[in-house]
Amino acid sequence: MLADPSEIKIRSYLPKSKCFAILNSGNILGACVVKPLDANTHELMNIAIQPSHQKCGLGSALLKWVIEFYRKYGATQIVVGTGTFGYQLAFYQRHGFRVTSIDHNFFVNNYHEPIFENGIQLFDMLRLTLKFTNNVA
Ligand SMILES: CC(C)(COP(=O)(O)OP(=O)(O)OC[C@H]1O[C@@H](n2cnc3c(N)ncnc32)[C@H](O)[C@@H]1OP(=O)(O)O)[C@@H](O)C(=O)NCCC(=O)NCCS
Repeated sequence: MLADPSEIKIRSYLPKSKCFAILNSGNILGACVVKPLDANTHELMNIAIQPSHQKCGLGSALLKWVIEFYRKYGATQIVVGTGTFGYQLAFYQRHGFRVTSIDHNFFVNNYHEPIFENGIQLFDMLRLTLKFTNNVA
């Protein structure tokens, strides 16, 4: 829920998704949830690292692992949406994601409660895509 404050929404996409986790002696330090949209496109729905273990490189390692998994799986692209245009945007861009569109008012239209991050209300969702150029559909 660090990445998505709506438990209802998380529960709605979990059954159709693959979940990747970083485990340390049975403790989950981080998780990433990816849902298939069609045979070639997968959406990164959620990625989060326990606050006590953030900024140690785990998030980057997890994202890299997931990207390689889908590259080998034969996917042509991974998409992700983010409402935070801060360090998370750089986090995805550093791994090759490019901005493809903006979903205006996504967060006010899809969540019952307003969402704030660093005191700023989230309105619009930025959609990013990582294309695997060597995997042809
Ligand atoms: C986004 C997240 C998964 C990144 O995982 P992480 O393990 O903290 O990231 P890393 O240690 O691999 O660092 C990746 C980069 O993000 C930066 N970063 C991580 N947390 C940061 C923070 N709170 N503030 C500023 N920069 C931060 C790191 O400095 C690093 O930058 P660099 O590559 O220039 O050194 C993690 O911060 C998190 O769980 N955030 C809350 C949930 C969230 O926002 N998920 C994404 C939703 S779009």
